[in-house]
Amino acid sequence: MQAVLPRLRFDDAFIEAPSRSFEGAIESLWMEVGFGGGEHARALAAANPAIGLIACEVFENGICSILSALVPDDGTEDVPALPPNLRLWDQDARGLLARLPPASLSRLYLMFPDPWPKSRHVKRRFMHPENIALAARAVKPGGLWRIATDDPTYQAWTADVLAAQHAFDVPPPATLRPEDWPPTRYEAKALLAGRPCLYWSLIRRSGS
Ligand SMILES: C[S@@+](CC[C@H](N)C(=O)[O-])C[C@H]1O[C@@H](n2cnc3c(N)ncnc32)[C@H](O)[C@@H]1O
Repeated sequence: MQAVLPRLRFDDAFIEAPSRSFEGAIESLWMEVGFGGGEHARALAAANPAIGLIACEVFENGICSILSALVPDDGTEDVPALPPNLRLWDQDARGLLARLPPASLSRLYLMFPDPWPKSRHVKRRFMHPENIALAARAVKPGGLWRIATDDPTYQAWTADVLAAQHAFDVPPPATLRPEDWPPTRYEAKALLAGRPCLYWSLIRRSGS
């Protein structure tokens, strides 16, 4: 954490020009909310070297997992080359979404968010009108917002919240993970337990 996180952390000195936080030029900026163990974020960054990905996670174990995968402990002090197009934000993703330049994201990912199934916890769900407004501000017209969940309450909730907004086009969700979506750890657990997943690909409308 001490040696590697500072090298990968998205420094908010770059908040006005996030593309400058990456080592080389990037074609577009993507963001993932709640990367968990980081498998999806690492796979996205590796498969798409021309993009810059800011991956967000508040849970320290998640940060440790992604760092351990990037820097395996081989008993030496050497830190191998880190992905030049990956940056980590170890705070609430909503704070970053609110501060990035408007229309700066080409893609946003929300993979298997915490379901908070009790109705008294509805406000804790990431899929919430207030956060849709944050996403709508940050995602550029034509940009994609990919959302996946296996939780039946959250699936119904997501459909309801999306039906009530006008910022994104909402094609019907896929029931099988589209080919270019990397898998995630939560998805693997859900599929093993026989819980069907839904995968939305929203498209940011222009002018709303
Ligand atoms: C259920 S886990 C899913 C992890 C991963 N996406 C996967 O599919 O394996 C949800 C993760 O989102 C993180 N999280 C929830 N709200 C967040 C927020 N506002 N900002 C950053 N991370 C958040 C949690 O700490 C948790 O690790």
